[in-house]
Amino acid sequence: MDNRPIGVFDSGVGGLTVVKQIMKVLPNENLVYFGDTARVPYGSKSKETVTKFSEQIIRFLLTKDVKAVVIACNTVSSNCYDDLAKKFENLPIIEVVTPGVESCLKATKNNRVGLIGTNGTVSSGAYERKLKKSKEDISVFKRACSLFVPLAEEGWIDNEVAKLTVKEYLKGLVEKDIDTLILGCTHYPILKAVIGQFVGEKVKIVDPAKATAYKLKECLEKNDIINLSLKEGNRKFYVSDNYAHFDKICETVLKYTCKAEKVDIEKY
Ligand code: DGL
Repeated sequence: MDNRPIGVFDSGVGGLTVVKQIMKVLPNENLVYFGDTARVPYGSKSKETVTKFSEQIIRFLLTKDVKAVVIACNTVSSNCYDDLAKKFENLPIIEVVTPGVESCLKATKNNRVGLIGTNGTVSSGAYERKLKKSKEDISVFKRACSLFVPLAEEGWIDNEVAKLTVKEYLKGLVEKDIDTLILGCTHYPILKAVIGQFVGEKVKIVDPAKATAYKLKECLEKNDIINLSLKEGNRKFYVSDNYAHFDKICETVLKYTCKAEKVDIEKY
């Protein structure tokens, strides 16, 4: 029995889509979320910069006595996981790419899959490498959709601008006869309705968040650090800037009043 919280982080509101699944799968766990709203987006930044930001965030989360950390960000997961796991070797760290790959492999029938994510995620090749390691003959069609992140951060999730942007980015992918589309950025499930409308019912949409929550559960059980309390967990939210806007999106995504607190993350 370990009632210390689990740390979860992302560049902004995207990781809330992962928190949503963690709250379903592990409702009794206490959570501490950090959204780096002062420095979003991560997807256009270098691996070195994103690694430095992630190290600061993990150091901050450790001051909250977290027992494990979930990198609720594909850009960090695909570029910095190995470095972070080495640096914080005694801390269980869960990333989102492996669960996304496993869900995709279960979903595809024709072995033609689409991957959308940030520039950082798509150009890292992490998804493709892992997919091909399990299924050599899989075809992966990739597209970085950089404008989806500001749309999600702005809360423009179903207006005409969102619809046009989705069409512009995804039209080339649907022409490739894909049967599965991986949402390789945790911001993108916020736009899932518009994405789903555009790609149509024949394309299965894979959001790695649910499988990530189950991976976390497995990890807590394996390390014997699961919280056995029957009480609903506490959730605490921190951001590096502009917290009123964050609260609004949190309300939409999680149906939860989060009252985020601002933290000077550069100090860590
Ligand atoms: N939500 C993040 C991801 O999954 C980062 C998006 C960004 O900041 O560019 O990649």
